Amino acid sequence: MPTLLDGRKISSDIKAEIKLKVEKMKDAGQRAPHLAIIIVGDDGASHTYVDGKIKACKAVGFDYTLMQFAATISEEKLLKHVDQLNSDSDIDGFIVQLPLPEHISVERVTESISPDKDVDGFVNQNFGSIISDSPLLMPATPFGVMELLKRYEIDTKGKDCVIVGASRLVGAPLALMMSHTGHATVTLCHKYTKDLSSHTQKADILVVAVGKPNLITREMVKEGAVVIDVGTTRVADATKKTGFKLSGDVDFENVSKIASYITPVPGGVGPMTIASLMINTLRAARHNQ
Ligand code: GUN
Repeated sequence: MPTLLDGRKISSDIKAEIKLKVEKMKDAGQRAPHLAIIIVGDDGASHTYVDGKIKACKAVGFDYTLMQFAATISEEKLLKHVDQLNSDSDIDGFIVQLPLPEHISVERVTESISPDKDVDGFVNQNFGSIISDSPLLMPATPFGVMELLKRYEIDTKGKDCVIVGASRLVGAPLALMMSHTGHATVTLCHKYTKDLSSHTQKADILVVAVGKPNLITREMVKEGAVVIDVGTTRVADATKKTGFKLSGDVDFENVSKIASYITPVPGGVGPMTIASLMINTLRAARHNQ
């Protein structure tokens, strides 16, 4: 059986480390790091993610501010709120939870966030700084994946890493991190990739971030591969109180029979994204205060 990459446990270790650092900051007369979260509309999944982020702030001793707006807010008004947070010296970092309603440009909003308060690591400047030797704020989900591998002492150097899904938030920045800091040989697959299996079968480390339950079957995975599943799709499940369960992109039941390490969904990469957000907020506070 493979080793489960327990994102919940690693995330809680990281939060305990951050809590100690926050206590030291306060002992030294500094205020606690302060994260603001903007959420627009009433998408259930987004509210669940935001609840998790607030819970993490409480656990590590950060201050937090939640700003909730109706789905009808104009882009102009939202940009004004972003601007206010950019210039508010009490706020060390902030995020705008995605997705946003269709009438609002995600790129315009994210690019208006000051790079040194961009604790999601979405801004182009932070994306580019992945290949700098002293990045300040790293894209949160890919950084969480790298940290998970590091804490399980999984060596990436010289390994064949295949990433399925080339999104701006996960696959593309992770490809850069795997190459630059991980020294892996990286293949980045996307929806136009021909014969996906021929790539995934070569992977020593396979990362999947697409959002299609069970896309990756046992036949597509090499024996002994490390498998990281970033997918989280809500699928109907009448046995659950909520009426749904979270499903990853990997056929966990069968792939886990041949993988050496594998992430569960939920409880794998998800908690690591939140841990990264906490790490980035602490870094932003140290940089900005
Ligand atoms: N929506 C889904 N994941 C994320 C994330 O990591 N950050 C933000 N801001 N929105 C998201």
